Amino acid sequence: MTQTDILVTGSTGKTGRRVTESLRARGASVRAAGRSARVRFDWNDESTWEPALTGVRAAYLVDRQDQPGAWDAEAEIGALAKRAVECGVRRLVLLQARTTGLVGGKDLGAGEHGVRESGAEWTVLRPNWFFQNFDEGVLLDSVRAGEIRLPTGDGQEPFVDAGDVADVATAALLDDGHDGQVYDLSGARALTLAEAADEISAAAGRAVTYVPVTHDDYVTELLSYDVPADYAGFVADLAGQIRRNLNSTPTDTVERVLGRPPRGFTDFVRDAVARGTWAV
Ligand SMILES: NC(=O)c1ccc[n+]([C@@H]2O[C@H](COP(=O)([O-])OP(=O)(O)OC[C@H]3O[C@@H](n4cnc5c(N)ncnc54)[C@H](OP(=O)(O)O)[C@@H]3O)[C@@H](O)[C@H]2O)c1
Repeated sequence: MTQTDILVTGSTGKTGRRVTESLRARGASVRAAGRSARVRFDWNDESTWEPALTGVRAAYLVDRQDQPGAWDAEAEIGALAKRAVECGVRRLVLLQARTTGLVGGKDLGAGEHGVRESGAEWTVLRPNWFFQNFDEGVLLDSVRAGEIRLPTGDGQEPFVDAGDVADVATAALLDDGHDGQVYDLSGARALTLAEAADEISAAAGRAVTYVPVTHDDYVTELLSYDVPADYAGFVADLAGQIRRNLNSTPTDTVERVLGRPPRGFTDFVRDAVARGTWAV
């Protein structure tokens, strides 16, 4: 692409932040957008869409899943993709998730139709669970507390580094050859939550234990922390995908796209310990 102005939505999030860095490292000019960014972008406020989209050549789209009951991915992403093309955006890279079947009663792949049918060049990224759930996201407090309670049983997940996802997104935004591709992105090794906890425990030098809980008990726990019911069910269902080993086979996509192997979990853990992330 000759013009390299790229819109990054979700630019404060785990991948968006890294996509912004990775694009800038390659010399691209980035419009980093978000609800509190200088360039405002809010899925709930359509008046923010056009100013964010106008004048960019490509866009990285991160959807939102904080209110799964109210989120109609197909309609919302479809509407945004249509608006993007009307605004002159030529390439769309959509972040989704690697899931199988319904999650919280929903097909999480439904949002993909919007970019596929937009008329723009498109790439869909479907990563497994990120390493960064352990040090930035939903599992951070549990790791610090020394107890990861999840309904994942002894199912395995080939966790992936958000930095690898960002590098693949950057390639899809800047380089040719990714149009019409759906990339399932995983790390090289599938781990149970107990194995992940053991690695963290050994590297951090203190006990971090995985405690298996049932789906229903997990939902009840989340509700007791005032998590909305639809979100609690959604997260429990996502964990159930791990329990049932639905997405547990590692893929070679990161290496195929980037020409290097994905980052390993051990390296991620070593770095997080060195940063003092889990120190209490
Ligand atoms: N976490 C994982 O393991 C994982 C694995 C596979 C796929 N994914 C996918 O990654 C996506 C984001 O998840 P994440 O874990 O990366 O979350 P995250 O780090 O919390 O990032 C979410 C981003 O979305 C933005 N956002 C939230 N509500 C918004 C709204 N109404 N309008 C505009 N932007 C909004 C947030 O920005 P502001 O709050 O600054 O506005 C933030 O930058 C989801 O689609 C999820 O399916 C996640």
